[in-house]
Amino acid sequence: MGLLKNQVALVTGASSGIGKSVAFYLAKEGAQVAVNYYSDKEGAEDVVQKIKDIGRSAFAIQADVGSEEDVLRMFKAVYDEYDNLDILVSNAGIQKDAPFEEMTLDQWNAVIRTNLTGAFLCAKQAVKYFLKRGVVEGISKSAGKIIFMSSVHQEIPWAGHINYSASKGGLTELMRSLSQETANKLIRVNSIAPGAIKTPINEDVWKDDEKHKHLLKLIPYNRLGEPEDIAEAAVWLASDKSEYVNGTTLFVDGGMTLYPGFIDNG
Ligand code: NAI
Repeated sequence: MGLLKNQVALVTGASSGIGKSVAFYLAKEGAQVAVNYYSDKEGAEDVVQKIKDIGRSAFAIQADVGSEEDVLRMFKAVYDEYDNLDILVSNAGIQKDAPFEEMTLDQWNAVIRTNLTGAFLCAKQAVKYFLKRGVVEGISKSAGKIIFMSSVHQEIPWAGHINYSASKGGLTELMRSLSQETANKLIRVNSIAPGAIKTPINEDVWKDDEKHKHLLKLIPYNRLGEPEDIAEAAVWLASDKSEYVNGTTLFVDGGMTLYPGFIDNG
């Protein structure tokens, strides 16, 4: 308890799934949390209430991370409410799947806009603030922490989901280059790459017995991940426990990136 005491966090796409759990776990460790949502106000209010129920502070803020105007409004709301920011978890993400030859430009643009441009727009505002504010003694050893929610598909190619894997591959170099640019200002930038986590984004898979069984073959640890598996990693990456971790991706995937197809000699 208290790893993030007196810190302020903004979590995007926090009305469901991984973001919802991350927001709650950051709050459990003492952070005040801005819960961003796109359209699910009720989901966001539910997260806020759960955080308030454990005696922490949170508020919900609507914004489309792909819109610069919305992102500016969202960051202003955070400063108006808490007059501070220590942690950005850029988590919002979508999938729009299609065979490559049928993928429309709209499907391509929508995924890049949310998963990559959204991360850029949010990280830019966070970096601006962290550079201006610097390190606050007694709060954190870093001037600010950014965690991008990437995916195992920054590494594993994903046929039929090329817009998505391209967005996460792009996000990886955004993360690494930004860390290179800002580490000497004591801003820490890292990614989490979840494997298959049970959330609304992939419920068509884990709610179907056959697809679920097939998916397990890709996970050496033999279970799907829970949002809490990712939230625990986010708490660690946001805290001073990981102070020397910069520009890296933490894979939280039950071994999905271990090429399980080679378990029986390939
Ligand atoms: P989810 O669908 O529950 O969460 C995505 C959230 O992003 C939703 O709350 C949605 O409203 C929000 N969002 C979508 N477009 C937005 C926009 N323009 N502005 C603001 N918010 C927006 O799914 P999940 O799984 O929790 O996804 C969270 C992140 O984790 C995503 O970036 C996803 O790519 C990533 N991820 C998820 C995996 C999984 O197996 N569930 C695996 C690897 C990565």
